[in-house]
This record gives sequence, structure tokens and C-alpha cells, in this order.
Amino acid sequence: MSEKVRVMLPEEEIDHRIRELGEQISKDYEGESIFLVCILKGASFFACELAKRITVPVTIDFMATSSYGSGTVSTGEVKIKKDLDLPVAGRNVIIVEDIIDSGHTFHFLENLFKDRNAKSIRKCAMLDKADRREVDVQMDYIGFSVPDAFMVGYGLDYDQKYRNLPYIGILDF
Ligand code: IMP
Ligand code: MG
Repeated sequence: MSEKVRVMLPEEEIDHRIRELGEQISKDYEGESIFLVCILKGASFFACELAKRITVPVTIDFMATSSYGSGTVSTGEVKIKKDLDLPVAGRNVIIVEDIIDSGHTFHFLENLFKDRNAKSIRKCAMLDKADRREVDVQMDYIGFSVPDAFMVGYGLDYDQKYRNLPYIGILDF
């Protein structure tokens, strides 16, 4: 294991930002309920902490997607690996991702939930790598903007490793 992780966002900073996002979302949805769609596996740590900070009624469900292509380069083709258990029709969906990179995943999911007749759809990502966008996606909630580097921790993996780090770091190869 020759890679090294440089701490970029310590746990306290992430927790603080998640509280702020939770308060914002709770205000925005006052009098409504929310259907949180957590995209596995990366977003699971973030989505659970976020759900705990939302004060309006929350239902949570999980879905897994994959973008096909070689290595770290996305081809833009997104596939469903595991679908939701619950229907989204008539619900206020918030899609929760670990990171928005090319934007293909959010673009695909937004269209999917529109087709499934969600009442409303908003998009939330813990991290935003804006420099890497290939499709234009209007985000509603962003935790932190990050540079174009490989991020790990707090759910984010490299080769299925580092998800369990309580902080977010940059992986140096
Ligand atoms: P998008 O469809 O290109 O926006 O892809 C988003 C997905 O790519 C995320 O859900 C992550 O699984 C993965 N990804 C993108 N950048 C990183 C990174 O820096 N570290 C770990 N995973 C990443
Ligand atoms: Mg992911």
C-alpha cells in the first residue's frame, strides 16, 4: 500500500456542515415530508448523518448505480445495480450522493425519478468537484467544494478501501 491520505476536511468540520445542511433542508421542507434516496455505497455515511439532522418526517431508501468505463474515467452510461424498494411517485425526493464529479449519475437519476412521477426532486452531494463537470446539473445542496483530486474517507473509497475514515482526505499516489 504505497498511497497516502492527506487530511483535507476533519470530522468536526464535516459534522458542523451536515448540521447546517440539515437545518436548511428542514426549513425548506417545513410542513412536508422527505424521501431521501441514498446512493450506495459512498453516500451511506453522509446520508445517515444528514437524516439525523432533519426535523421533518424522513423516509430513507437505498439504491446502487455504476457508471461503465475503464478505471476512473466515466463513459457517461449509468446503470442501476440495485433499485429502490419503495416507490417514489408523489414523494419529495432528495437524491443524496457522496460526490458530484462528471454529473452523469445525478443527470441519470433525476430523469429516472421524473419518469417515476416524483412530486419534487432535489439533489444533495457532500462534495462537489465542479471543474470536472461534463453535463450541466443544477445542485440544491452541497457540503463542500473540492479541487480536482482523488478524495477518500467518510464513505468515499479507492478500490473499496478508506470508506471508514472519519475525515475526508486527498489520496496521494
Ligand atoms: P459522476 O457521475 O461522474 O458525477 O460520478 C460520481 C461518482 O464517481 C461518485 O458517486 C463516486 O462513486 C465516484 N467518484 C468521483 N470522484 C471521486 C473521488 O474523488 N473519490 C471517490 N469516488 C469518486
Ligand atoms: Mg458513488
